[in-house]
Amino acid sequence: MAIPLSEKPDEQDIGHRHGHQVNGHADESVNGHGQVNGISNGTTSLINGNGLTGHLDDGPAIEIPIRETPMGTTRPFKVIFMGMGASGINFAYKLSRELENVELTIYEKNDEIGGTWFENKYPGCACDIPSVCYQYSWQRKPDWTHYYSGSKEIWEYFKQVSDSNQLGKYVKLKHRIVRAEWLDDEGKWKVTVVRNNGRDPDDTFDDYADLFIHGGGVLNNWKWPEIKGLSSFEGPRLHTANWDEKVDLHGKKVLVIGAGSSGVQVVPAIIDQVDRLFVVARSPTWITAGFAPAYAGPNGANFAYSEATKQRFRDDPTFYLWYCKAIESELSVRFKMIVLDTPENKEARAFSLQEMRRKLARKPELMDKLIPTDFGVGCRRPTPGNGFLEALTHDKTTVLTENLQEITPNGFIGPDGQHHEVDVVICATGFDTSFRPQFPIISNGRNLQDEYASDLVGYLGLSVPEVPNYFIFVGPYGPLGHGSLVPMVEAYTNYVVQVIKKMQVEDIKKIQVKRSVAQDFTRHADRYLKRTVWSGPCSSWFKAGSVSRKPVCWPGSRIHYLSMLQTPRYEDFDLEYLSGSRFNFLGNGFHAREYDGRDLTWYYSLLDGQDKQPESFPPPLY
Ligand SMILES: Cc1cc2nc3c(=O)[nH]c(=O)nc-3n(C[C@H](O)[C@H](O)[C@H](O)COP(=O)(O)OP(=O)(O)OC[C@H]3O[C@@H](n4cnc5c(N)ncnc54)[C@H](O)[C@@H]3O)c2cc1C
Ligand SMILES: NC(=O)c1ccc[n+]([C@@H]2O[C@H](COP(=O)([O-])OP(=O)(O)OC[C@H]3O[C@@H](n4cnc5c(N)ncnc54)[C@H](OP(=O)(O)O)[C@@H]3O)[C@@H](O)[C@H]2O)c1
Repeated sequence: MAIPLSEKPDEQDIGHRHGHQVNGHADESVNGHGQVNGISNGTTSLINGNGLTGHLDDGPAIEIPIRETPMGTTRPFKVIFMGMGASGINFAYKLSRELENVELTIYEKNDEIGGTWFENKYPGCACDIPSVCYQYSWQRKPDWTHYYSGSKEIWEYFKQVSDSNQLGKYVKLKHRIVRAEWLDDEGKWKVTVVRNNGRDPDDTFDDYADLFIHGGGVLNNWKWPEIKGLSSFEGPRLHTANWDEKVDLHGKKVLVIGAGSSGVQVVPAIIDQVDRLFVVARSPTWITAGFAPAYAGPNGANFAYSEATKQRFRDDPTFYLWYCKAIESELSVRFKMIVLDTPENKEARAFSLQEMRRKLARKPELMDKLIPTDFGVGCRRPTPGNGFLEALTHDKTTVLTENLQEITPNGFIGPDGQHHEVDVVICATGFDTSFRPQFPIISNGRNLQDEYASDLVGYLGLSVPEVPNYFIFVGPYGPLGHGSLVPMVEAYTNYVVQVIKKMQVEDIKKIQVKRSVAQDFTRHADRYLKRTVWSGPCSSWFKAGSVSRKPVCWPGSRIHYLSMLQTPRYEDFDLEYLSGSRFNFLGNGFHAREYDGRDLTWYYSLLDGQDKQPESFPPPLY
């Protein structure tokens, strides 16, 4: 039976209920305080051996049988996780190590795991975060080939992590989630899945879970540009995120549309192959130095690790950790660059300006078009562009800084009305970054898809107000704008694992962020973000898919975010309990450790670090 949360979020405490039945107690409902339907009769509660049978201060008699299991018992719990990219892999690993009695199913639409690094195979695709910071803290690879790694090597790393930890058993490949609906009475998500692209009518089925986690990636829904005639092009038309490796660019006339991070990587990677290159770069953008340059090669360039260095990393994990920490520290302090008018912000701008002018010197007419004047470095995601500007100034390259008029069957009509023939069109035009779910997510009569048309209300980049038992990895107002996403994914996981443990042990049926809290958080974030370059007048995917919208980044540094996520703030949530009493999890008066062999005097500290009751104790001593 449905137990709605209070309609007055500001006033509500945990688990208020109005006139609804709680788990088999047919005619009464209780809130977490044992109040019944807000009726006050001024009586006092009594607790006898069989349960709550007396009267509470302001409620009539209620009877909630005591749960005859020890406190600390983990109830069976099912999680459905969407996507087996970096987020899904991390979640599966942690779940297998840190949770018990939890069934996990990860639905992955692709025929391989790896997400971003499986899908993006365009020439030059690489991490611009140093390799040693783009890996899990719990499984470091000592033998990265390069300081910045290519897409293939990163995918191989994730695949190896998954295989070596037997995480494949949780994953159903070629299974696309197409709908999710919260069933309030049951306290479950009903998730509709289509397998094998739905070739067979029986390929659509429903699965049910206590918790639904969206790990489908914000950069996973690639999009074609809106350009007249695009589909009329008769030659190969590629998108960077949907690359066809069979297309040979050697000796071809090629049009690249887009100068975001993908365009900046693909252009220098193909310049030596193509006969003629046209690049559409319609908006100014800061091309910066590589991230964490202090440890990079000369002038911030990529380099290959020597065998001796890799061996040292293998032999001396402490040294390797020290090295990783040095680079991660360099990345993390970069947030000062994002804050307006800081010395770091000014320095980054001055440096990038000087570098862009130097590199565009062969085609000075491009400076006015490509160098931003009204927004700072980092407004759009900084794009370390090794070789990009050099490729633009190459003799065989034509840069178009306005919109194309049209794509034709064999070429395109440029901004000046001239037709150019090309053999291949490459769209480096990015993704739908609106955060709008790609399928209906229904809860309490709302479809989340409808809420993304206007300004978003977020909560710590990981949840949505008043949507029960639902978390997003890499959601709005998360740390989108700087540094490696992998430590963030670990932080999301640790947070959600804590929530699951609590739900299991404390018999929580429903947990959802209060709207008033999310609004308060969003107002704070919006106010703070005005201090950052992200709010500048640039087009960027941090603005929830539209240039004119506000940025939806975390209002602070990475360290600030990681600290915030360490412990869930349960006061920000509404909770509902399976039994109707928030204290029924106290159970039969014993703790699970009194039955399961754990140390009964753990509070004295552990012998040999093991939480296990010693098999014997010393004999009496005199
Ligand atoms: C080209 C490129 C380069 C990048 N470089 C960096 C970088 O240098 N540093 C950095 O920190 N980040 C980088 N990123 C961001 C990168 O996306 C994240 O770092 C990280 O890989 C995200 O992992 P994820 O698991 O959250 O999402 P993803 O890797 O996007 O994985 C999501 C998974 O969910 C699956 N999925 C989606 N919808 C459904 C559905 N309906 N049903 C079932 N499955 C579904 C997808 O198939 C996919 O496998 C880059 C992104 C791109 C596109
Ligand atoms: N690690 C890396 O090096 C790396 C590499 C690739 C991607 N990424 C991640 O992925 C994100 C997305 O990068 P992305 O480059 O794929 O997408 P993006 O940053 O959104 O860039 C898309 C580009 O396409 C252009 N574009 C879109 N429609 C167009 C049209 N109709 N005509 C002309 N140009 C058009 C955009 O121009 P406007 O700006 O004018 O709209 C922009 O230059 C990055 O920010 C980053 O987070 C990282």
